[in-house]
Amino acid sequence: MEGRFKQSNFLDERNKNKGKERNNKNSKATYDKKIFMRLARFALPYWPLFLLALALVLLITILTIIRPYIIKIGIDKYIQGVVTGVISANEAEGGIIKLSSLFLLFLFLELVFGYIQTYILEATGKRIIMNLRNNIFRHIQRLPIKYFEKNAVGRIVTNVTNDTEALNEMYTDILVGFIQDSFIMFGIVIAMIRLNLSLSVVSITVIPLMVIAAIIFRRNARKVFSEIRSKLGAINAFLSEHVVGIKIIQVFNMQRKKYMEFDAICKDYMKANDKMIMIIGVYRPIMDVINSFALALLLWVGGRGILGGNIEVGTLFIFINYTNSFFHPIMNLTERYNTLQSSVVASERIFSLLDEAIECQKVSTYREGEETADFKRLNGTIEFRNVWFAYNSEDWVLRDVSFKISAGEAVAFVGATGAGKTSIISLICGFYEIQRGEILIDGINIRDIEKSVLRKSIGLVLQDVFLFSGDIKYNIRLGKNHIPDEKIYKVAKFVNAHGFIERMGGYESLLCEKGATLSSGQRQLISFARALILEPSILVMDEATSNVDTETEGLIQDALSKIMKGRTTIAIAHRLSTIQEADNIIVIHNGQIVEMGNHQKLLENEGIYYDLCKLQYEN
Ligand SMILES: Nc1ncnc2c1ncn2[C@@H]1O[C@H](COP(=O)(O)OP(=O)(O)OP(=O)(O)O)[C@@H](O)[C@H]1O
Ligand SMILES: [Mg+2]
Repeated sequence: MEGRFKQSNFLDERNKNKGKERNNKNSKATYDKKIFMRLARFALPYWPLFLLALALVLLITILTIIRPYIIKIGIDKYIQGVVTGVISANEAEGGIIKLSSLFLLFLFLELVFGYIQTYILEATGKRIIMNLRNNIFRHIQRLPIKYFEKNAVGRIVTNVTNDTEALNEMYTDILVGFIQDSFIMFGIVIAMIRLNLSLSVVSITVIPLMVIAAIIFRRNARKVFSEIRSKLGAINAFLSEHVVGIKIIQVFNMQRKKYMEFDAICKDYMKANDKMIMIIGVYRPIMDVINSFALALLLWVGGRGILGGNIEVGTLFIFINYTNSFFHPIMNLTERYNTLQSSVVASERIFSLLDEAIECQKVSTYREGEETADFKRLNGTIEFRNVWFAYNSEDWVLRDVSFKISAGEAVAFVGATGAGKTSIISLICGFYEIQRGEILIDGINIRDIEKSVLRKSIGLVLQDVFLFSGDIKYNIRLGKNHIPDEKIYKVAKFVNAHGFIERMGGYESLLCEKGATLSSGQRQLISFARALILEPSILVMDEATSNVDTETEGLIQDALSKIMKGRTTIAIAHRLSTIQEADNIIVIHNGQIVEMGNHQKLLENEGIYYDLCKLQYEN
């Protein structure tokens, strides 16, 4: 998976792959087949409905083919009959009324069947899409953090919204449409041959021309479709990023520049669409010309036949009618191919997301739900053994890091910006895989601990607190409905958040997206409550006290010393005053541990920690 989805060139990469596939027709065919098989799997639970729709399609097709035949009878038997004096005008009128009624009845049935069929397909399509969308979201939630670092939010959103919508037509229009068109073409050819062989030959001779036009169209359409969808993704990605960053845009007066950038992306999208319009715009008239050419030929050959007395007028009529109806499915087929292309491109993107490996979920020692005697919750012993870690290939962020934190110990990590402190925390939370060495929790390799078990034992407080839209209670409880309200109040009081929550209107007061209406310190207090509510055996805090004022910090410190009892605590702090009490202070420099010991010992060492302390106290 490594390097497969460097987002910036993610689509180029895919296009390259597609290019490779195109070179090899066989693999291309199997590739498409695989996509269709997967798409079919989503439709499988609804097969009775599809079957019903198909039966209706068959009925409609039969009606469509028979209808012109009724007119043929009207012309040949009654109109021609009156002209040649075989039957009387009265008789003819009665016959024509009967035929017209039959014609209307057929038309009516066609409409009713068409309505039912459309309803069934649309409703089924929507259900399939809903399931697919849910599947995608479930999958997204289980993807490793790395995926989100490499894929823009907007692109992921496009995947879940637009791409799934593009698939809708696949199930409603394309699948059944192809079958319907094939039925009609097949039925018409049979009917034509049975009616008159020479006229059939005339109608059918132009087919190769249409096939050539269709193939040329097909070739161009796929390329352009892929382009259109990736440009749409770019628009969404740009929008979501810039709506989030709107404050920076306004404060740095970037509006005009950003507008120009957006304009450029939109123009790209429009240009891609223009290409499509060009292709369709050329294709349709060409098909019309071929159609007219076939009609002219028919008129010529058929007219001569009528004059020679070999062909009936009604037969020529029905051939003209059939030839028109015959061209429709061919046009449809190609235009459906058009939609099919967009669906294939969309499904490629959806499946590539669904194929992204989810977080490594090795299950062996500890399994969730298995309340064995040895598992209630992890104890919280953490050991790094010669850990080497890089986000990207060999770009080492941690080098040969080894330390041990006993259960219940309080440890602080100290070091310059970019030293690798947050990375260590991310590894403990199991967000990334390490390249070399071992991380042991309770003496068990972290790879062998189920992620949910690991994370149930960890309470995490990050510098950037993320709050969901919803009320405060929801943001503290986070879906764990078994937690009673009383416990929420208790924990909030414990971390000194109760005061400001009451002031702002209580635990039911609504927060907007990301808790934008709260101050950073308030958000941090809520995140404390959130981390503690599950009584984790490991508490991890990344710069947790950096956003609160000195008074609140004092309150938190006070709360912390209570909280820390009985659990492993890992804290990262730039303000060294907050970590003096730690049992062990680990100094990280350039991804390596350079010093370790308690405050007193490190001061005596007069190393990096000593220098840092001196700097801070001097200020
Ligand atoms: N998601 C990521 N992908 C690639 N590189 C990253 C990622 N996160 C961090 N890094 C890099 O890893 C190195 C260590 O980053 P880390 O966030 O661990 O530093 P830190 O010690 O927490 O710094 P700070 O004190 O500023 O928070 C940095 O050089 C950073 O550029
Ligand atoms: Mg950090």
